[in-house]
Formats: sequence, structure tokens, C-alpha cells
Amino acid sequence: MENPLKVLELYSGIGGMHYALLDGGYANAEVVCSIDISPAASLVYKHNFPCTTHCERSIEGFSAEDFDRMGFNTIMMSPPCQPFTRLGLQKDVDDPRSRSFLHLMKLLPAMQSPPNYILMENVKGFENSKAHELFCKVLKQLGFSVVEFLLSPKQFGIPNSRLRYYLLAKHNQKEFPDEVNQLGKVFDDIPLCLKRFCNNTGSKENPTKTLEQFLEEPSSISDEYGLPEKTLLRYLNVMDIVNPVSKSSTCFTKSYGYYAEGTGSVLNTGSTLDMSNVLANKLRYFTPTEVANLMCFPEQFSFPDGFTRKQKYKLLGNSLNVYVVSCLLKFLVT
Ligand SMILES: C[S@@+](CC[C@H](N)C(=O)[O-])C[C@H]1O[C@@H](n2cnc3c(N)ncnc32)[C@H](O)[C@@H]1O
Repeated sequence: MENPLKVLELYSGIGGMHYALLDGGYANAEVVCSIDISPAASLVYKHNFPCTTHCERSIEGFSAEDFDRMGFNTIMMSPPCQPFTRLGLQKDVDDPRSRSFLHLMKLLPAMQSPPNYILMENVKGFENSKAHELFCKVLKQLGFSVVEFLLSPKQFGIPNSRLRYYLLAKHNQKEFPDEVNQLGKVFDDIPLCLKRFCNNTGSKENPTKTLEQFLEEPSSISDEYGLPEKTLLRYLNVMDIVNPVSKSSTCFTKSYGYYAEGTGSVLNTGSTLDMSNVLANKLRYFTPTEVANLMCFPEQFSFPDGFTRKQKYKLLGNSLNVYVVSCLLKFLVT
């Protein structure tokens, strides 16, 4: 990597991509601009990155000239996933939430100096969409090489599932290793050439961590995180119950703590792991800090005062695993 990374962070949310950039420790790297339309996400972003130029606007309002003026050489982005989620309507490019991404596909070819690198995250399902087909076509026309992955933090030794689609694109003068130069293949394992950039892949030498390493001090957790008996009795069969020594937890979604089914694991902090008398155990939700820990956000990440639990889970549920993106970014730019 010859020039410092100058990143345009699109759909920046609470800044997961920014933290992944910082995690790489690149000399003189910076986010030159972050863009997100959500006032709540923007507040959290500005709270954690007060020195970054942040635009609380729609990407649809930007022109190719605006982008050229920003002087970035890298785009990191997580476009809205609702048009592609397997449980949603999958309206794909006909979903109004795809408009800004389609707009971006028009901006890239119109730029005087398009970026050298693009890193994109989305949900599983994106790889089969029309939007995917169109985006890959634009990238090909512009002379990018593309590598695609479907990966979960569990493959990186982190006890949390979050299967996501990742696209890495670099300009043709910079080729990917031969091992991954397989047109159209979406890698669902970690190829050797990517492993080089990850400290932990849940191997024998570096086994998957247990959840206790991601938990807050029990004394600092208020009773509000306890599961109400009513919820417990009603949803026991569909809940994923884990304990501090577990090596897995399910994906925390934006509805965690609100809907019981399929939104994230709950924690048994009781002294017995025997679930035959579940009410004797102490089941609680993971706190937002614990969810952020499992998503590998750094300790210094925080929410501004006044954010509710529900808002925090929602914003975290929309975000990404910082460590996974950090490994992919290193692989992309090295
Ligand atoms: C999947 S989330 C991004 C998560 C982000 N990477 C993070 O770490 O939090 C998608 C984001 O896109 C934003 N968004 C949706 N439509 C947008 C648009 N037209 N322009 C700008 N931001 C938009 C949403 O507000 C949301 O924060």
C-alpha cells in the first residue's frame, strides 16, 4: 500500500467500519467523510468520532463532483440490507431502500478519480440479488478485481454468529492472490492467503474464546436485564440459552430484547446449568456493552447519554463485527 488510506465511509451507522480501519493501525489513514441519513446513528458516530467530517444526509444527494472533491481512495460501506434479507420481501432493486446504492453505481463511473479499494458488507442473500449483479458489472467495467466471502465471526475464534456477505474490490493494477482469483466464487471459508491477516481463526493454538471474556462485571449489571418470568415461560423453547463458558451465541439483531425469537442469545448466570428448572436459573439479556464487545468494538466505544436500551440494541444490530472487517481490510489493501 503506497498511499495512506483515505476512506469514504458510506452508510456509516455507529462507525463499525471506522473502528475496523483504526484496528489496522495504518500510518496516516483517516476517514475523510462519513455519511448516514439517520439522526440517531449520526449522534453516536459524532460522539465517538468528533473530529471526522460527518454528513447526516442521504447519499442520493451527492454528485460525482462532490465525491471527487473529498479526495478519498477507499470506500467502506454497509448499504441497507432490508431489500435482500432472507426473511424479508426481497424486493431487491425495486425496494426504495436500494435507491441510494443504485445512485452510487452511477456515481462511480462518473468520478474523475474513482477509489482504488472498496470494501462492502451486507447480509447473506445479497450475493444472489440483481443489485449484486449490477454492482459487479459496474466494478468490472471500471477495471476492478473482486473477491467475495460469506463469513461469520465464529470462524475467527469469536463466540458469536453473524454470517455476512463481504465484497472486496481493488483496482486492476493491484491483483488479489491467485488462490482467490476464481471469478464468481463466494468463499465461505477463510482461504490461506486471508488467514495470514487474522490472529485467531479458532484453531488448536488459538481456540474459540468463551463468552465470559466478553461479559461485564456482574455487580455492574442492573436487574432490568433479567428476563421477565412471563417472557421466559412463553418463549423458553425458542430461546438460545448460553452460559459464561459457552463458545457460541446467536446473532444479535436490531430487535434484541424486544422480540424473543431469533434475535440473539440470552445468558444463564445461575450456578446450575441444569435447565430442567429454568426458573431457578438466572437468565438475563446481554447488555449493549456486551453485545458491542462480541462485535469487537473497542472499549472506548460508547453511546451518548440519553440513548435507551432499545435504541442501542437497534443500532448495534445494524452494525458489523469490527474484527472480521479489520482482517478483510488488511487483506484488501496489503
Ligand atoms: C447496515 S446499516 C450500517 C451499519 C454501519 N456499518 C455500522 O457500523 O453501524 C445501514 C445504514 O445506512 C443508513 N442509510 C440508509 N439509507 C441511507 C441513505 N439513503 N443515505 C445515507 N445513509 C443511509 C441507515 O441509517 C443505516 O445506519
